Amino acid sequence: MRAAVVKRHRILLADSGESFPCGEDEFILRAMFHAGCGPLCNGCCGGGCGICKMQIVEGAYHVEKKMSRAHVSGEEAARGILLLCCVQPRSDLTIRHITKEKEGRYVWQSIKP
Ligand code: FES
Repeated sequence: MRAAVVKRHRILLADSGESFPCGEDEFILRAMFHAGCGPLCNGCCGGGCGICKMQIVEGAYHVEKKMSRAHVSGEEAARGILLLCCVQPRSDLTIRHITKEKEGRYVWQSIKP
């Protein structure tokens, strides 16, 4: 019996121009960490802390794990603003890092500190 071949996709960080591979069975945050891209993340990796909140601006994806509504509203999710520890790619993706200011505006940040 043959093992199923997992499709791999390229994830582009719009902020820095870096990219990394991610399989359809991998979570984007974990693949980014293993590739040495993006910020160091000491989060929960379970959709509860919100530290990995980013926007997918282009491409297809699958939300595999439940995300805290305290961190991602339905309106944000509809715009591709998600917790990347819960998301797997289904095509090549372009993503951007964001944080939320006190006034409620979103600010695009560089991936590298
Ligand atoms: S690392 Fe905690 S929500 Fe993603």
